[in-house]
Amino acid sequence: MAAELVRDEFGLKLTDGERELRGDFGSMKKRLKQANLERELLVKAARIKNSEGPVRVIDATAGLGEDSLLLAAAGFKVKMFEYDTTIFSLLSDAVERASEDEELKDIVKNMEVINGDSIEYLQSGECEADVIFLDPMFPERQKSAAVKKKFQLLQQLERPCGNEEELLSAAFNAKPKKIVIKRPVKGPCLGGKKPDYSLSGKAVRYDCFVFAK
Ligand SMILES: C[S@@+](CC[C@H](N)C(=O)[O-])C[C@H]1O[C@@H](n2cnc3c(N)ncnc32)[C@H](O)[C@@H]1O
Repeated sequence: MAAELVRDEFGLKLTDGERELRGDFGSMKKRLKQANLERELLVKAARIKNSEGPVRVIDATAGLGEDSLLLAAAGFKVKMFEYDTTIFSLLSDAVERASEDEELKDIVKNMEVINGDSIEYLQSGECEADVIFLDPMFPERQKSAAVKKKFQLLQQLERPCGNEEELLSAAFNAKPKKIVIKRPVKGPCLGGKKPDYSLSGKAVRYDCFVFAK
């Protein structure tokens, strides 16, 4: 059976009858605790020194929004772009459900979801972000068999990022204060461009470009 979106009492899910996938922010609650957030490499990578007011982030490759959720919980204002309509629907549903959850509702106030191509937005001249975050890779890093199985559904939808260089150059042209790129820890730099510095964990690495303003 081809995968399709189905609504049940828990919200929207993508299912092929055997496997199912939902946007799920509830399972991340432990990571969202303030003390834990400060240890998140992504949060460290996205920080801007001496910033006045909340830092504005564009998540140009939102997916199911887990990275954006971490940033939003750490106080960043996140605008998320997802061009695949099915993934966008799952993401919007996760945000909607979280807005009714006591522990998550204030966090998702920092998140805006847009169904569209971030490259077009970054090239439009309207982008006023402090940080642009890019994560165009497939989530192959997930370890457990169950997670792997459910992400197979997602991988059927995700278009391979054949335009990495265009995405990166659109991010540069939008003139943010910082660009943060998530890569597999031993993976090549996006577009072959060497960052100013990197923060590496066990499985992933954040490549950071910093621009003086
Ligand atoms: C690896 S996933 C991102 C995972 C995400 N960081 C998370 O925490 O769930 C990449 C996502 O970016 C989307 N994408 C890739 N290029 C895009 C673009 N130019 N505009 C909008 N979405 C894009 C893909 O459809 C895919 O859902």
